[in-house]
Amino acid sequence: METEPKKSKGWCWWIVVLAIAAMVAASATLTIWSNARHSKVSSVRGRPGKIAEKYADALKIAIQFFDIQKSGKLVNNKIDWRGDSGLEDGHEEMLDLSKGMYDAGDHMKFGFPMAFTATVLSWGILEYGDHMKAVKQLDNAQASLKWITDYLINAHPSPNLLYIQVGDPELDHECWERPEAMTEKRPVIQVNTSFPGTEVAAETAAAMASASLVFKKINSSYSNLLLKHARQLFTFADTCRGSYSVNIPQVQPYYNSTGYGDELLWAASWLFHATRDESYLKYVTLQNGDAFANWGTPTWFCWDDKLAGTQVLLSRVNFFDTTEISDGENIGLQMYRKTAEAVICGLLPDSPTATSSRTDSNILF
Ligand SMILES: *[C@@H]1O[C@H](CO)[C@@H](O)[C@H](O)[C@H]1NC(C)=O
Ligand SMILES: *[C@@H]1O[C@H](CO)[C@@H](O)[C@H](O)[C@H]1NC(C)=O
Ligand SMILES: *[C@@H]1O[C@H](CO)[C@@H](O)[C@H](O)[C@H]1NC(C)=O
Repeated sequence: METEPKKSKGWCWWIVVLAIAAMVAASATLTIWSNARHSKVSSVRGRPGKIAEKYADALKIAIQFFDIQKSGKLVNNKIDWRGDSGLEDGHEEMLDLSKGMYDAGDHMKFGFPMAFTATVLSWGILEYGDHMKAVKQLDNAQASLKWITDYLINAHPSPNLLYIQVGDPELDHECWERPEAMTEKRPVIQVNTSFPGTEVAAETAAAMASASLVFKKINSSYSNLLLKHARQLFTFADTCRGSYSVNIPQVQPYYNSTGYGDELLWAASWLFHATRDESYLKYVTLQNGDAFANWGTPTWFCWDDKLAGTQVLLSRVNFFDTTEISDGENIGLQMYRKTAEAVICGLLPDSPTATSSRTDSNILF
């Protein structure tokens, strides 16, 4: 599906995002979002069991990856070969875009996959925070998430303006160097009402809405700030519809998007979970389900296509939270749930509809 440049530029994110996504997807059938009705954040039921060291180590290394990717003035840096970098990012626009994370081996800050990473990291923390805590990784995971959301807040200085990229990929990719030593110009790219970017604005809204749940009990004013940005960005994404790939052609060789319908549904689903505001539920069911949900057609969850994640997220509402939901909304939710089931049946190795895109030892590709 993807072109080579995308794969090679972004593969490091993939490993972490896919690992977290796999945990999240597996949890769909196991977890009860018991307190959702009261907007409480809950995670996987039951105490973490006996710790398996090899998995604890794998999680630690996966989460450490985020520390390695950090831009800006580092705080409590545990990576001895990393230092401050990108301190002037955003300076020309009078913004502090120094934080956030570099894409992979390069020093680009690509807003679209970075926001997706934040959304999936939030989801991982919401589901598995207790387990992360048991192996002393929860603080690290939250700190890495905040490193991205701090950046996203600064990248969104007014309701209809979002900075979506820092760095010039051509210049950046010509030079193999440490971020601490880079001297290239660091131009920024924005989306606005004349050149909107629905995918990236909606994904950033999803990141902030999901992170607002993570930080709700830790710092309610930070959580509310994230939610304010999330609501504004969603309105911007929805009312100024336009593909960022079309409006900002420079992104095409890197993280080109195949459409924004999935991001709109995904963002509205997170906003519904974060706010319990029924307008977001109507949005994904009655108002835009037919147009964008592609019900009945399972796809894989990735930075370009969030439909599978949306289906799993909305299945929770359909399973556990139906009392105050209208018939029309409920029919939409059931369609999401059926499609989520088809996605999961494609993944499970013994299912009659299991995908054959897997190795002999059942690794999916
Ligand atoms: C709106 O965004 C486009 C694309 O990034 C940019 O070329 C243009 O200058 C921006 N408009 C304003 C008023 O800054
Ligand atoms: C909570 O968040 C607010 C808003 O971002 C911030 O100003 C404040 O310093 C935070 N409080 C703590 C204890 O971190
Ligand atoms: C990028 O995606 C758009 C559709 O969103 C498509 O028209 C364009 O051809 C794609 N470009 C590349 C280089 O794949």
